[in-house]
Amino acid sequence: MNKIKNIGVLTSGGDAPGMNAAIRAVVRAGIYYDLKVTGILRGFEGLVMGDFIDMDRKSVANIIQRGGTILKTARSESFRTPEGRKKAYDQLIANNIDALVVIGGDGTFTGANVFIKEYNFPIIGLPGTIDNDLAGTDFTIGYDTAINTVINAVDKIRDTAESHNRLFIVEVMGRDSGLIALRSGIGVGAEAILIPEAEKGMEDLITRLEHGRKDKASKIIIVAEGDEVGGGVFNIGEILKDKFPGYDIRVSVLGHIQRGGSPSCMDRVLASRLGVSAVEGLLNGHSGEMVGQINLEIAFTPFDQATKHINIEEVGPAWLKLVEILSL
Ligand code: F6P
Repeated sequence: MNKIKNIGVLTSGGDAPGMNAAIRAVVRAGIYYDLKVTGILRGFEGLVMGDFIDMDRKSVANIIQRGGTILKTARSESFRTPEGRKKAYDQLIANNIDALVVIGGDGTFTGANVFIKEYNFPIIGLPGTIDNDLAGTDFTIGYDTAINTVINAVDKIRDTAESHNRLFIVEVMGRDSGLIALRSGIGVGAEAILIPEAEKGMEDLITRLEHGRKDKASKIIIVAEGDEVGGGVFNIGEILKDKFPGYDIRVSVLGHIQRGGSPSCMDRVLASRLGVSAVEGLLNGHSGEMVGQINLEIAFTPFDQATKHINIEEVGPAWLKLVEILSL
């Protein structure tokens, strides 16, 4: 007989649209399988502090469409310390919580992994990050909404760029990953995309602009936040101004609008499916793994593999060539 009777659920790290849909799925699956579900507020920080709430089917009503996370999120310093993790363990035992579902990104899974090694406590992870930088799932929860937010914003920038004959440098999120930049850049018909996985250098960008079509009314360069070419978007703007005095250049940083908003249908469905699979996974003895979706199949990937940022095919030469061909 399975000894799991009470599952704790938390969201941690940067929020992502679809986290609420994931929480709802975990709670409803827990209830379906006759479990108690405990919500943990503010991620690992709330776990250390014992900030717990009982969840029932009504506490997750009408949240599937809401951005952010009703459980709040945080980046916990205390959970990084052995003392903090001991407190967290004591809180779990005192509250009769037998297993955890943690929704977040690589920092969340790294913390969870340390905790499992110390306390042998069952934990399953759900990939909740707009960056899509986890191995073991084709897409993370929040990514689809974020790239759609980006294309909606950049389409608007294109309108004004086209009217004024301007070149825009647009920074999008992705501290360590260019996947938001790559997909949204293709989606908006960007003239160039700069991503940290393929740092080609300022020279390459300048050569492309020199050889690019001169009769285009506007040009859009999408830059991932983590890309270091030119030392940031404002520097790139200055360098290009010097090099191409004929271009009227503007810089736009999209920032945290990319993390908010109502989740897309893709994210709601992904979060719902993975949330139910996380509970079923725990009941079937899974732990120390992230549940993701690969080619429509549910897949469990050990945390230390999931955090390896491997999504190499999508930042590889074939995709970059695609960008080059399409920007002619
Ligand atoms: O959620 C991931 C992410 O969006 C990164 O791309 C970005 O660098 C980071 O969060 C910024 O988060 P914050 O402003 O919360 O530190």
